[in-house]
Amino acid sequence: MTGLQCVKGMHDILPTDMPGWHFVEQSFKELMSQYAYREIRTPVLEPLELFVRGIGDATDIVEKEMYTFADKGGVDLALRPEGTASIVRAYIQHGLDRQNSINKLFYIGPMFRRERPARGRFRQFYQAGAELIGAGEPAADAEMIEMAVRFVQRLGISDTAVLINTLGDADTRKSYRDALRSYFRHQADRLCQDCIRRLENNPLRILDCKVTACIEACKEAPLLHEHVSPTAMDHFSALQQKLSLLNVDFKVQPRLVRGLDYYTRTIFEIQGGVDTLGAQSTIVGGGRYDGLIAQLGGKPTPTIGFAFGIERLLLLLKEDRFPPETRKIFVTGAGDDDYCHMVTIASMLRDAGFTVETPYASGSLRSHMKRAARSGARFTAIVGEEEWQTGCVVLRDMQTGEQEAVAIEQLAGKMMEKQ
Ligand code: HAM
Repeated sequence: MTGLQCVKGMHDILPTDMPGWHFVEQSFKELMSQYAYREIRTPVLEPLELFVRGIGDATDIVEKEMYTFADKGGVDLALRPEGTASIVRAYIQHGLDRQNSINKLFYIGPMFRRERPARGRFRQFYQAGAELIGAGEPAADAEMIEMAVRFVQRLGISDTAVLINTLGDADTRKSYRDALRSYFRHQADRLCQDCIRRLENNPLRILDCKVTACIEACKEAPLLHEHVSPTAMDHFSALQQKLSLLNVDFKVQPRLVRGLDYYTRTIFEIQGGVDTLGAQSTIVGGGRYDGLIAQLGGKPTPTIGFAFGIERLLLLLKEDRFPPETRKIFVTGAGDDDYCHMVTIASMLRDAGFTVETPYASGSLRSHMKRAARSGARFTAIVGEEEWQTGCVVLRDMQTGEQEAVAIEQLAGKMMEKQ
């Protein structure tokens, strides 16, 4: 039997991958703190009903992509496919509006969708996202889009496009759906099987289909903007003015739709890396979802947010952006009797902020130096009885082979200079 493997579409993130992950997560946390967002963590498992009601039962996610099961008590649960519905649940459950009328929340964590695995598309993937609860003004939309754009820029990802659109209010969606249905009924022989199914229950989703024949069939489809109310259009115009004042380049994409049902008014995406990511080139997706809190049992509250997939961003990141590994030193004794000296020096260096490794097995200095070479540390400090008696260590540069005696009390300072 071949060894056990992780589940299809899921993956291990190995220590060698971590510099990139830490870089993205750290950069996102810094950005969030600069815009006064606070972190929230919610469970990976939620009641199934949250997503059915929150995301919409006619969406691809709810119809066919969720991992669901009844637990031993018979309760229907789902592994969360996204973060927004869970954040809203937590917001209502804990009455976060009682503490603040505006809540700015961010999260990072694994999400689960049983999609067909492809480059940049996984069944377990990590999303980082931001949700602004309690502000309905165009300035809130503008700041949200600006944050997402600045983030992608800071990571050094270029050649991206910011696409925005308005879906209007809830009644706009209804009349637009009717208009799309009557248009696509006449195009049915050109649509893929999925879109034929979508025709009745979610015709907006057809506009997002990646099948060439469906893309062709969409070309003459009615435009959503013809159904949007003047108030929602004013909101959209004000947003565009504000984005220009913020120096954010964007493109209005009247056919842009999103795969989740809760959106109203502004939606946006940042796309990039078509060569690397192909059909998965949406790296950030977001929008306003003003109806969701009321739909899930809270007070009507305007809300907007975005999320990005960390794996997708990493595929576009150049490794030279990642900061080098922390300062690392290997400390060894010259023989078994030097254990005490070795661990004293190691503790001293760790307290000074260095990453320190020591050998565990007893052995000769020669064998310890072999381990030191494999550890990846640039420097090794050797402390034998003779050095200890004279209050110093031998510091060896593992790249050049140069060695020098350094006084123990000056070792941390010396290492700082060398970094
Ligand atoms: P979404 O467009 O479904 O929106 O996902 C957001 C991002 O998550 C995508 O742009 C992509 O980078 C990443 N992503 C989605 N599915 C996968 C996958 N199977 N594998 C890898 N990455 C993936 C949402 O989830 C909304 N909750 C975003 C939002 C927040 N809207 C308002 N607030």
